[in-house]
Amino acid sequence: MWDDLAPIGRHSGTGGYRRYAWTAEDAILREWFVAEAQARGLDVIADRTGNLWAWWGAPDADGPGVVVGSHLDSVPDGGAFDGPLGVVSAFAALDELRSRDLVPSRPLGVVAFADEEGARFGIACTGSRLLTGALGAERALALRDGNAITLAEAMAQAGQAPAGVGRDDEVLRRIAVFVELHIEQGRGLVDLGHPIAVGSAIWPHGRWRVELAGEANHAGTTQLADRRDPMLALAAVIQRARLAAVRHDALATCAKVRVEPNGVNAIPYRVTAWLDARGEDSARVRAVVADVTACAAESGGGVSEESWTERTAFDPQFSARLAVLLGDAPLLPTGAGHDAGVLAAAGIPAAMLFVRNPTGISHSPAEFADPEDCRAGVVALTKVLAELTG
Ligand code: HGY
Ligand code: MN
Ligand code: MN
Repeated sequence: MWDDLAPIGRHSGTGGYRRYAWTAEDAILREWFVAEAQARGLDVIADRTGNLWAWWGAPDADGPGVVVGSHLDSVPDGGAFDGPLGVVSAFAALDELRSRDLVPSRPLGVVAFADEEGARFGIACTGSRLLTGALGAERALALRDGNAITLAEAMAQAGQAPAGVGRDDEVLRRIAVFVELHIEQGRGLVDLGHPIAVGSAIWPHGRWRVELAGEANHAGTTQLADRRDPMLALAAVIQRARLAAVRHDALATCAKVRVEPNGVNAIPYRVTAWLDARGEDSARVRAVVADVTACAAESGGGVSEESWTERTAFDPQFSARLAVLLGDAPLLPTGAGHDAGVLAAAGIPAAMLFVRNPTGISHSPAEFADPEDCRAGVVALTKVLAELTG
């Protein structure tokens, strides 16, 4: 499975993945998922938002089921494991259960959530947020990518009717519990010397758009005193974001910038930057955003919130039960957002398993997990499935 998936959307120059929602690469990933499901005789359902579900058993007839999986899309030049490891491990764990001639006490589903990274349209976990109603359909469908294509247009072009997106209780009723296996995005397990952890919580995090206006003019003839150059304001905002992160013991990143007109010899008339801010509690994240907002305001700029996720604690009893089941696996929080967090926030029992990442690097072509640890992840997920469907 891994070898079939690896070439899809991989950029030959960087070795990173460019698997963005509703693109040609996404369509090939969907074909891969459907083929893997059909090869197992599973019923495949694409819900109205484009999340893909493969069922062993009939969740509508035989009551809600146990769902495992993750996402297949990536950040720009992302790694191979963030998302796909959870989907491949889900199919592998199902295979292992079936090899034991087990008849599960309730249906078992494998899911690939649509557009978890938000790389193209800007909001993370779009598929699970639309499904649970955490993101409104109208706002989502109007989101535009870098070429001003709306999500609605992109979905339609990919053959997915956009009119149907939104909270889908018929799909939600099928999920008794969701367990997402994911490569750890950090070095917690390396330092603990354990291959698998159970997720305890997801830090509060969000994305904000910073808009800085300037005055278009000639780089070679406009005196310095006559300039209104938004790049200077951008530089101040980026510096202030870092200072605020240090000051408030949080994390702040400005990694995406749009300069208009983006010409070497043209002073920009507008700069747009995106702030990703996260921290152990919401107050410190809000403090970072307040600092950055004040800084942008000094040059007449504005900051607007694009997405916000409150701290999500996974059910402590359930997580502790899994940790014991997995040989006293450590419980770890994460600063990365996940579909499991969106479902948990919607009241659906959910848990996460993390697979050791020797370097901790993620959202990079260098992301890697040792095959032995990946196998340990499948063994752990199989144990969890056997426990939940026994
Ligand atoms: O950004 C995140 O935390 C996740 O990778 N979507
Ligand atoms: Mn990610
Ligand atoms: Mn992920």
